[in-house]
Amino acid sequence: METLHKILNYIKEKELYPEMKTVCTAPSAVVEIEKKKMHMFCTNNYLNLATHPKVIEASVLATKKYGTGAGGSRLISGTNQMHVALEKEISILKGREDTLVFSSGYLANIGAISAIANPLLGVAREISKEFMRSLDNETIVFSDELNHASIIDACKIAKVPCIQYNHTDMSDLKKKLLYYKTKRKIIVTDGVFSMDGDIAPLPDIVELAKEFHSLTIVDDAHGTGILGENGGGTAEYFNLKGEIDLEVGTLNKVFGGVGGFVSGNKEICELLRVTSRPYIFSAAMPPGNAAGLVEAVKIVKDEPALRIKLFENIDYFQKILNKNQLSETVSSTPIIPIIIGDENLTVKLSNQLFEKGFFVPAIRWPAVPKGEARFRVTLMTDHTKDQMDAFVETLNTLCINENVLVK
Ligand SMILES: Cc1ncc(COP(=O)(O)O)c(C=O)c1O
Repeated sequence: METLHKILNYIKEKELYPEMKTVCTAPSAVVEIEKKKMHMFCTNNYLNLATHPKVIEASVLATKKYGTGAGGSRLISGTNQMHVALEKEISILKGREDTLVFSSGYLANIGAISAIANPLLGVAREISKEFMRSLDNETIVFSDELNHASIIDACKIAKVPCIQYNHTDMSDLKKKLLYYKTKRKIIVTDGVFSMDGDIAPLPDIVELAKEFHSLTIVDDAHGTGILGENGGGTAEYFNLKGEIDLEVGTLNKVFGGVGGFVSGNKEICELLRVTSRPYIFSAAMPPGNAAGLVEAVKIVKDEPALRIKLFENIDYFQKILNKNQLSETVSSTPIIPIIIGDENLTVKLSNQLFEKGFFVPAIRWPAVPKGEARFRVTLMTDHTKDQMDAFVETLNTLCINENVLVK
């Protein structure tokens, strides 16, 4: 206990312990926190689907019909028709043969990556040594250095070597693939990077994967539902539908519920259903949540106006940011980083913004590297021009007062 006490004190002394605000209303562009009306610029409910009347109605009706919980894991008694319907809808959106849904995006990554990198983890005790020896040799995972924590954790669980390549650096990836030429290989990347909002160079990754006979896994947590003509995600955006071996995603951001998914071809999904441990050993998501998600996935396809308005907001926000020298880069996703650098200064600015009615927490280590603290602004369909103008004007004034030069 003494060790734990010391570590906690250290974190607090270094002012690294995060302050969590309690939101008392739905995740919309305006929320209530500490009895104050706040303009929120930090939710992943990009298309406002968490509050879409059709999503809420479907979720409430299914909860009344099926109860609050699934009552078991998928392989025993937990598979409800709403899970099956959700897997079908996601397969249609992604243009894939099959899909598995998990209780979270984190678990989807753990389940997919560990099972594909080390398929014997789940079945090792059942198979003969002779069969084991007949399988491919050691697997190496090649992972972008800015991939999400769940990918890093999945590689640890898989107990296979994970080689990081420099962020979106294809010549570095190629060099490393070449070095491990004779091994079984998997390239894993976020589709849209969660803290920077940039898009992975999937065409180059697919080309390298073909050249080096590597499997590809894309975590499209922030791309699915947003990018591509029909919201199919980063693969669709690059005209690469069906070219990625496994596409992973979350259902808690764009789709406004909770859960994760893995989509791919029939055979790979069939294998995952019996080797992916979080799918087998964790309860299925509540059917009411699944029903809301079925509706949300349909809305992404049927109501493109929501995405069109979101992209208008992204364009507008980006323009006023650049005009005020608050950003030098241009993001083509709803994630817009404003990099301050210094951790304490970012926290100070975040508190000042809060005082002025804007809710956007400071993002610090360990979510981003030390010295790269930032505001990770996320835009929604519901944000108004007045809100965006007011936010940028306020941040600009605060930065001038504090002599901050945004990176
Ligand atoms: C890129 C990425 N992958 C996976 C996850 C995990 O998803 P979930 O919150 O559904 O567990 C997140 C969420 O922060 C994410 O940003």
